[in-house]
Parts: sequence; C-alpha cells; structure tokens
Amino acid sequence: MSVKDVAERAGVSVGTVSNVLNRPEKVSPATVERVLEAIDAIGFVRNDAARQLRAGRSNSIGMVVLDISNPFFTDVARGAEARAAEERLTVLLGNSEENADREKSYLDLFEEQRVYGVLISPVGNDQSRLERLLRRGIPTVLVDRQTDDDRFSSVAVDDVAGGYLAVRHLLDTGRRRIVFVGGPDDLRQVSDRLAGAHQAVAEVEGAKLEVLPTEALTVLQGQQAGENIRGRSLETRPDAVFAANDLLAMGVLQALNMLGGVPVPDEIALIGYDDIDFASAAVVPLSSIRQPSALIGHTAVDLLVREAAAQGGFEHEHVVFQPQLVVRESTAPSSGTRSIDKGRSSFARGAAARPTR
Ligand code: RIB
Repeated sequence: MSVKDVAERAGVSVGTVSNVLNRPEKVSPATVERVLEAIDAIGFVRNDAARQLRAGRSNSIGMVVLDISNPFFTDVARGAEARAAEERLTVLLGNSEENADREKSYLDLFEEQRVYGVLISPVGNDQSRLERLLRRGIPTVLVDRQTDDDRFSSVAVDDVAGGYLAVRHLLDTGRRRIVFVGGPDDLRQVSDRLAGAHQAVAEVEGAKLEVLPTEALTVLQGQQAGENIRGRSLETRPDAVFAANDLLAMGVLQALNMLGGVPVPDEIALIGYDDIDFASAAVVPLSSIRQPSALIGHTAVDLLVREAAAQGGFEHEHVVFQPQLVVRESTAPSSGTRSIDKGRSSFARGAAARPTR
C-alpha cells in the first residue's frame, strides 16, 4: 500500500497525505482524521526511514505508568530518564491510574506530538491502540509486562517467580495459613504473583492460601484488608500475609501492628513486593521481593533507542529480570522460634537481578 492508495481512499491529494504524516499541524483536524482512518482501513505502513529523514523525530519519549504515586514507577521513570539523557532525549510522564481511558488519552497525545517513542505499563492486554503507534512509525516498548508479541520489545520481572519466592519464604519460616492480598486480578502483575504463590503452597502439605482481593494496589486498600484480618477470630486469622506490592503491605502493617494490636511478625508475618525505599524504613522493616526498577526503565529506553536507530527491521527483544528475596524483620519466625538475629535488619537472598534475553 502506498501514499497514493491512502489519498484515493481518503479522497484527498497525495500532498495532503504527506502533510498529515509529516506536518499534521498544517492540516485541518477533520482531514487529518479522514486520512488516518484511510490509513487504518487499508493498513498502510509508512516507510519509517524516509519519514525520519524528512520530518525528523521528536526528542521526547512518551511514558505511561499505572500509578505515579507508587515509588516503584517513579524509580522506573528515573532509570528511563537517566538513559534518555545519554541520548539528549527527554521523558514526558503520564499516569493512567490503571484506567484504560486515561491511558488512551496519553497515547493520543503522544501520537499527536509524534514522540520519539513510547514506554508503557499497559492497563489491560488489548494492544490494538499500540498497533496504531507502530503504523505511525512510533516504536513502543512494554514496561513491567511480559509478552511474546514480537511487534514490541518488552522489559519485566518474572512475577510468577517473585510470587513463588515470597510464599516459599513464608513457608520456610513455618507459616502455613497464608493470605494473598491484591487486585484487581485482571492486572498481569497481580495474577502472575498469585500464580507463583499457589505453586509454593502446593509444595507443602497442610499449607493453605486464601485470596483477599483488593480494588487497587494502594495503602488504603491494604489497610482495609488488614482491618478485615484483624476483625477475625484468632482461629480464623492467617499466620502470614503476602501483599501484591509494598504499598498494600504498608497498609496491612498499619491496620495490624500500629492500629490493631496484632503484632507483626509475632502473630502474623508480612511480605510485600517491589522493595521500595519505604520498605526498609517501615516501623517493622518489611520483607519484600526486589524488582530492579531503575534498571527496568534504563533497559526500556535502551531498547527504544536501538530500535529507532535501526530504522526498520529491528528484531524486538523480551528482557525478563529475575526477582530477589529481601528478608527483614516482618517475616521473622514467630517469637517462639525466632531464628533471625535482631541485629540484622535485612539481607538479600535469591537470584540476582539479571536479565534473560
Ligand atoms: O502497580 C502495579 C504493581 O506492578 C507495582 O507495585 C509494581 O509491583 C508493578 O510491577
């Protein structure tokens, strides 16, 4: 399909199509939309190298994260910015708040801005909107999302392995009645971590795993889950909680230990995920599963830069880092059998954060 086919389909001149592709600000929005619809309808894919030569490429990278209030994503963004700065690029950061409409509005904005490329932690699994960026010649990298879709590169941590590490650690410290706190379950990070938790529990006879779903991965939702647990009778309470991320874990810790008189870890052990800075500084230093957040961002930009430089024909890569168990006070064996020296607050175990390409 050529520019001429697009022009015929849209009922405009070839020059107008060229303007829409390279100088859309010179064309009426209605005509731009008509030409873009024709491009979608016939599946036109521009010659990216020619476009780059003619119109040049913006020096801004568009980045959309799920929750800008989560230190995990700010650390990912800082890693991205560090690598971008090496190429004299800037990062425009958008927050989808796990909302598909907000995510789309940022992608529309980045398309209009003809950004250098897009980094996205997607809300759902529908990548049709990202296909349109590809057709516009805008390379896109999936961040914090494993995929085998070779139209995009991706960078993530093996969250199934991370969930397994977390619960295997709880089981190794003698815990047997474990509650998984996390949601929504259509978020890949949540469902993968839960899958790993089930794998660990299946290895130990008598171990039980209950799921306490949350609407989001926030401190407030963690507090509500903690209040649910605190309100139970001693016989129906768990002896351990695996929270799908550290923000949830901080909320659970507040509800149990600080407000509810349920001592962590003596009565209930607690482990989170991400190992954000607050984890080690919590009133009971939090055990967690470390993600190399800054390295994730740095690697995502590196993949984007290499794809842009390749000017077509780039073989997309799927980088998967291994999670790391960080043991702190919140998962010490119950006081009767405490085996972790009080003097040590944390030490890391498990595979180092290294990528498998
Ligand atoms: O916001 C979703 C969660 O997934 C974050 O806490 C981080 O763990 C990411 O991987």
